Amino acid sequence: MKRIKFLLLYLLLSTSALFATGIKTKPIYKDPSQPVEVRINDLLNRMTLQEKILQITQSSAGSNDVPQNRLEVAQKSNPQLGSFIYGNENAVLRNMIQKDAIEKTRLGIPVLFGCDIIHGYRTVYSIPLGIGCSWNTDLYRQACSVAARESRLSGVDWTFSPMIDVARDPRWGRIAEGYGEDPYTNARFAEAAVKGFQGDTLSAPYSIAACLKHYVAYGASEAGRDYVYAEVSDQTLWDTYLPPYEAGVKAGAASIMSSFNLISGVPGSANPYTLTEILRNQWKWDGLVVADYAAIDQLINQHVAANRKEASKLALESGVNLDMCDNCYPENLEALVNEGKLDVSTIDNAVKNILRLKFRLGLFESPYTKELPEKSRVMQQDGLNIVKNLAEETFVLLKNDKNLLPLQKDKKIALIGPLADEKGELLGCWSGHGHPEDVVSIFTGMKQEFGESNVVFAKGCEIDGNDSTHFGEALQAANRADVVVVCLGEHSWWTGESASRSDITLPSLQLHLLKTIENTGKPVVLLLANGRPLALEDVAPHCKAILEIWQPGIQAGVAVAQTLSGTNNPSGRLDVTFPRSVGQIPIYYDRRNPARTGEMGHYQDISSDPMYEFGYGLSYTQFTPSDITTSSVTVHEGQPFQVEINVTNNGQYDGKEVVQWFVSAKADKIARPIKELRFFDKQMIKKGEAKTFKCNIDPLRDLGFVDNKGHHFLTAGDYTISALGKNIQITVTPKP
Ligand code: NOJ
Repeated sequence: MKRIKFLLLYLLLSTSALFATGIKTKPIYKDPSQPVEVRINDLLNRMTLQEKILQITQSSAGSNDVPQNRLEVAQKSNPQLGSFIYGNENAVLRNMIQKDAIEKTRLGIPVLFGCDIIHGYRTVYSIPLGIGCSWNTDLYRQACSVAARESRLSGVDWTFSPMIDVARDPRWGRIAEGYGEDPYTNARFAEAAVKGFQGDTLSAPYSIAACLKHYVAYGASEAGRDYVYAEVSDQTLWDTYLPPYEAGVKAGAASIMSSFNLISGVPGSANPYTLTEILRNQWKWDGLVVADYAAIDQLINQHVAANRKEASKLALESGVNLDMCDNCYPENLEALVNEGKLDVSTIDNAVKNILRLKFRLGLFESPYTKELPEKSRVMQQDGLNIVKNLAEETFVLLKNDKNLLPLQKDKKIALIGPLADEKGELLGCWSGHGHPEDVVSIFTGMKQEFGESNVVFAKGCEIDGNDSTHFGEALQAANRADVVVVCLGEHSWWTGESASRSDITLPSLQLHLLKTIENTGKPVVLLLANGRPLALEDVAPHCKAILEIWQPGIQAGVAVAQTLSGTNNPSGRLDVTFPRSVGQIPIYYDRRNPARTGEMGHYQDISSDPMYEFGYGLSYTQFTPSDITTSSVTVHEGQPFQVEINVTNNGQYDGKEVVQWFVSAKADKIARPIKELRFFDKQMIKKGEAKTFKCNIDPLRDLGFVDNKGHHFLTAGDYTISALGKNIQITVTPKP
């Protein structure tokens, strides 16, 4: 009996021991309790060369959601690929592909699904160029969180956003996608986007990975043409184009997209200096670098590679980890390794970076997206409120003669123009998942705000062309009204990728309409909906007020109407200079001082000043700044100090004021911009009240500069700090 008991006990113990060994033999990479780097190495050691190469290959899947097509698309999508650009608007196809990846591939590595969520998923908000004018990074972070939630719930893990290319040429269509001409502004909005998309942790249910793009200097594309050469000295690279990327990297951006452009002869997607030396060696960044779409193959067009094989080697060795839809890596890398022309460790490094992102996103633990009905995924009320508030803050009041705005609620308004009852055009470029029917048109918003019977609409003309046959209806409407609101601007497809234009004036047909309406003698308010700064010299004299509304997204009509009525006081300030004409381009605030002063060197045929400068924007109320005070007028490196300014609202409306703090160095070893933005802040000031705006200055960071190798330095000497037209002098003494 004893023997039997002993035998049973032995059997029990050995089975549990076996069971325990079984658990232990579960691959390390599938064990979430293991550190990410351990999991990566374990998985990498199990992968064949072919599996590795497919892991660093991206393709696209889905563009519509025709249920009958799903199976076919899923079957055609190789689940061994590392990533797909995902076009569908719900997670069903994603889950089908993912199931194949998890259940039918040898190692069960989940697929990473990316998509261009540039300014909102379905709840589309203003184009980024408008968002920069809000100077409200916190509100923008919230909008990005809404986009992240809608994306993740709809099957997207990764957005190719934010675009943080400093852009100084309004002819370039992609100027709409970034936050204007200033490096610091782009840096702060880059951080806000990264925090908004990625949340506190990438593995949270509503976080998606951000992608800083297009690395780097794409905004310097010659003459605003797309995909072209960018002539950028190392000095300009470091002081103008890299700072937003450095900020985004420090904020924890999970990925970066290498650019199409040549950076002084070396392509952004085959550039060991920017992709490896700066990103990996200097900034110690361990994220994923994806090539822009077909950028590897395009190295052949750029004449740095003779064929796809050479292009693949060049891109991979320079630091491009993931091949976006080029199919260059799967076609060529294996042969390159076998021929001894490529070291497997280079492939391994790239594979590690994509695996790291998948582990951080928690895809190994939660590869699938719960399939929820559309109404639980998108267009939630909290999101609609955020994007409405954000739209309002992007509006810039460019002109307001005799305080024509705001309009009294009982006024009879004629609403005229090709964009006045538009929907789709107000979504702006890159709004792939946006639905025009979701947009509140300006006409609808105006009727809600001012009353149905107070607003009459007449389109007048199209955005472009020469058909003026409907001008008569517009004139009739104007003649019956107390005030006319004319809504003009651009097609949404006039900006974005491959959308450069040589002429940035309003189409002549629209200008003609405006002048015709002006002739009625009625006061005219001009609303401008466009994706780039326009040359407005011939436009501004023909109206009493101008409100720049950009392309404000789905809450356009509500935000516009509430701004025209004064419920919202416009608080946008330009993040980009408006030139008078194309002949002034490039024109931006932080240019270097010329050798000769006064009128010398100015244009003979036109003013050298811009039409509207960076930071410009009016309010319905009157803000009066005090002088700037400081905690110290003499400082040295390592001695932080504070400057402050008081702003009083002396006008009739509550309003938000933006204070931008600029620094100017009197003399330095490198000629520096006339002034450089170093900090900004926005606060609500109720009428009759005052607020203090403070700025904490770290001398090296804020008064100092960067050289052409990326070293930050501070020179002893005199500096001016300015805000709201006030100045204070600070002396930096040599280090004690
Ligand atoms: C090309 C564009 O340049 C880039 O911004 C975008 O993210 C990719 N295509 C993917 O759509």
